[in-house]
Amino acid sequence: MLLPDYKEAKKRTKGNTEKEFYSISSDLKKIGKNKKYYVKTYGCQMNEHDSENIEAMLEEMGFNKATDYEEADVIILNTCSIRENAHNKAFGMLGRLKHLKEVHKDVVIGICGCMAQEEKVVNEIITKYKYVNFVFGTHNIHRLPYVLNEAIKNNKQEIEVFSKEGNIVEGMPVKRVSKFKAYVNIMYGCDKFCTYCIVPFTRGMQRSRDKDDILREIGILVKDGYQEVTLLGQNVNAYGKDLDNDYDMSNLLEDVAKTGIPRVRFMTSHPWDFTDKMIEIIKKYDNIMPSIHLPVQSGSSRILKLMGRKYTKEEYIELFNKLREIPNVAISTDIIVGFPNETREDFEETLELCKYCKYDNAYTFIFSPREGTPASKMKDNVPLKEKEERLYELNELVNTYFKESNEKYLNKTIKVLVEGESEKEGMYFGYSEQNKLINFYADEKDIGKIIDVKIESAKTWSLDGKKVE
Ligand code: 5AD
Ligand code: SF4
Repeated sequence: MLLPDYKEAKKRTKGNTEKEFYSISSDLKKIGKNKKYYVKTYGCQMNEHDSENIEAMLEEMGFNKATDYEEADVIILNTCSIRENAHNKAFGMLGRLKHLKEVHKDVVIGICGCMAQEEKVVNEIITKYKYVNFVFGTHNIHRLPYVLNEAIKNNKQEIEVFSKEGNIVEGMPVKRVSKFKAYVNIMYGCDKFCTYCIVPFTRGMQRSRDKDDILREIGILVKDGYQEVTLLGQNVNAYGKDLDNDYDMSNLLEDVAKTGIPRVRFMTSHPWDFTDKMIEIIKKYDNIMPSIHLPVQSGSSRILKLMGRKYTKEEYIELFNKLREIPNVAISTDIIVGFPNETREDFEETLELCKYCKYDNAYTFIFSPREGTPASKMKDNVPLKEKEERLYELNELVNTYFKESNEKYLNKTIKVLVEGESEKEGMYFGYSEQNKLINFYADEKDIGKIIDVKIESAKTWSLDGKKVE
């Protein structure tokens, strides 16, 4: 048994990361024969991409994908820790799996992802959720075949969670959800330690992937006809800072653009590391999408300081103004309301900032204390009702800008990557260069292609249009 330990997780081992290659022994390739698996994913794109690796490993072991968890022999929950409700969702699902296990005794249940890195969660699984068969962490995803095999073989709870980040593992198999859009990890972990955030604990210190490995992976995607790649990391702008060379995110963006893949996206960006050089590269290449996610978190410099964000409201606005100069750019953000000590005046500064920035999209949250983080120890003097009212007020305001920003596209013809049939009868859906959701009339043969769509109506969350022949 190898349990998570926050003290260990906080120790940073800069420079010690090595590269290793994934491999699986031939006896493990048989254990899934005639069996089915089901993976349920919570949280961010990083987790979605991890699940693409997890599913591919299970298929290498001989398992087939089940359409429903009730018909699966192995069920894995890939969990998220970012806020309390993500936790609750996973534990809710565990409750349902308990009932399933009463009927199907042999079903094997596994937990992985960020919650598996939390000491408290794993202790609870050991004491209260004894029917969970195995747990593995974010640093040892590649160990899934071994951990699962041990759990089945020994018929006891198998827990293997590395507290400190392990090596960068190359060569893991991947079962991509899409045939034309792909996620590519460029770095793991985060060194920023924003005071509210659990990620530096659950994902470890920042480790950048070797550029040659990244470019090789993207080269294969290009050959396979992929139309879009999203470069993934907790803080992609800091790419390369942990490596011993002068190669940074702007260099990587340029090299990825040069592969000729039609669309390049990247997320998420911390304002601190966004350089002028990056902005120049985004302007220079048409295939780097003019869509920037730039979390601000708060419009009050006082609260930003308490959050450990390392920038003031004025510095954020300065960067925002530079980004606005990227032609046709769409900028989105994340905002937390009700951080400990946030006064009505602080919150009004957030509203003022939103009035200035008029974001294309904003993800808004109520502060959720995460055990082990500095903010969880701060005295929280904002009543929940007040937090809820602030969230409501903020949403009312930002929603008006989403609609306004969408109206800019009325009667314009824009490029859309067609993803599939829309929920709207007879229509297809896809995303514009600015990452806006578009529903439109087109043909089935357009799926997977970038086509021209004329926009006919604009709503808060999406736009409607028609393919231009
Ligand atoms: N409480 C509320 N929101 C949080 N986020 C991160 N941690 C917390 C927390 N403890 C939000 C931030 C981040 C987004 C991914 O989730 O806004 O940018
Ligand atoms: Fe959730 Fe953060 Fe983990 Fe992603 S990295 S799954 S958002 S806690």
